[in-house]
Amino acid sequence: MKRFFVTTPIYYLNGAPHLGHYYSTTIADILARYHRKNGAGAFFLTGTDEHGQKVAEKASLVGLSPQAFTDELSTEWKSTWQNLDISYDHFIRTTDDYHTAFAQEVIHRLRENGAIYEKEYDALYCVGSESFVSKSELREGGLCPDHDEEPQIVNEKNWFFKLTDYKDQVRRLIETDVLEIKPQSRKNEVLEMLRSPDIQDFSVTRERVTWGIPVPFDENQTIYVWIDALFNYMSALIHSQGIETSERDIQDIIKDITDIWAPDVQILGKDIVKFHAIYWPAFLLALGLNETQLPKKLLVHGFFVSGGRKMSKSLGNIVTPQSVSAEYDQIIGASRGNDVLRYYVVIEMMIGNDGDVTPERIQEVYQSDLVNKIGNTYQRVLGMARKYDLLTTRMAPEKQEKLAQAIQHKSQAYMNQQDLYGYVHYCLDLTGEIGRGIELVKPWELAKNGQDDELKYHLSKWLTALEIIADLWEPIMPASAIEMKSLLAGNQGMLFPRIS
Ligand code: MSP
Repeated sequence: MKRFFVTTPIYYLNGAPHLGHYYSTTIADILARYHRKNGAGAFFLTGTDEHGQKVAEKASLVGLSPQAFTDELSTEWKSTWQNLDISYDHFIRTTDDYHTAFAQEVIHRLRENGAIYEKEYDALYCVGSESFVSKSELREGGLCPDHDEEPQIVNEKNWFFKLTDYKDQVRRLIETDVLEIKPQSRKNEVLEMLRSPDIQDFSVTRERVTWGIPVPFDENQTIYVWIDALFNYMSALIHSQGIETSERDIQDIIKDITDIWAPDVQILGKDIVKFHAIYWPAFLLALGLNETQLPKKLLVHGFFVSGGRKMSKSLGNIVTPQSVSAEYDQIIGASRGNDVLRYYVVIEMMIGNDGDVTPERIQEVYQSDLVNKIGNTYQRVLGMARKYDLLTTRMAPEKQEKLAQAIQHKSQAYMNQQDLYGYVHYCLDLTGEIGRGIELVKPWELAKNGQDDELKYHLSKWLTALEIIADLWEPIMPASAIEMKSLLAGNQGMLFPRIS
């Protein structure tokens, strides 16, 4: 059986991880955890994108060599993810030797296959997005559409990729959902791009960028950072599985990783769709992969802003995952603070939309959902179970099994669509039903009237349901799901304390 293969973008090392990066990574983490528990296993890949002009410029600003700079920062990123309990299976650095060798093999193969050619040209290059921009894409004042920067004019002799040979095939693959792009608005946007005259052959090597992987057959050039970066998804998997690569071509190597390859879901933000939806499949086709060997789905998310404005140091509105997590560790204890942020990013915006994050809003969601809805229901049912000495009672095994299956069937439908928002709402609805049941049944009256069988019947049903729901919460709030189960097993504790 094929494992579920999920990827995040690899992050540029020009600062510490912020909430935007956390969002991509957390979505992937949730999907990986879900498939490990409910499917044929998962392979979750993340890492850092370390080459290119942008990183080199940042390094020189702080007076470090690019290598020393990236060594330092990638260690910080790795430990941030570890501290936040991100369950990646492999962390790639594009400066890793195996990746460098693989990227060189890729460019060599592209040349062998006649997919690249040499050309001298003039173009506009935006360092912020490490990409060429056409004049028609520029914003007012000649600025890059995604950055407040004026692009540089570049005149170089480079190797060009024949994107025009592949764009019709890529368009058909997207139209027919062989390569799915979610949400639909992003799919439309990509199809629009593919019809535009701006989609032309483009340069995949750079003459002046020295902080990059050398082109093996042209000593004046380094590999364009986006080719280098996109192929992390393949090099990392091959390396992590210990596959022998020497003297083998890529199509042959792929045969050894079919238990994981191709990516089932690739998570990315809306700013990097073109690279993933157009360049990436085109490169893979140019290497000779067939249509069944391409990534299956791109899940494109929106952007987080803070208080209606882009997060920035000067505005002082940056919300970091580390600080939110530490703040709620203080309130909940037992290193469960990160669960609050995980819950928040899922419930606050449907994947694809933009969202606004402020500490006040996180607190509101904590109180209204985690404390009042979830925590309160667990605490009420457990309180009564303790009071009436029914803590260990559960539904009969066959009934339990039936209920679990019905619930899993529904929750699976959400997860198979990567609809985390729908999934969490479904969990909340189930919890809400228990709350409504308590009000309707009034267990305290049953106890008072000596209706013991009925009391036991209802409590066993609610306790069983809460156990099943705890399982559903596991991918979203892993540490809290453990706490839920511990409470249901009779241990003392508080799920989500109220903030005074
Ligand atoms: N290095 C490239 C990706 C190469 S993948 C082969 C890159 N890196 S990045 O660090 O700039 O961005 C990584 C991801 O973080 C992107 O998906 C981007 O959309 C996401 N985010 C960066 N800022 C964001 C927000 N404020 N909100 C949500 N996500 C955003 O691009």
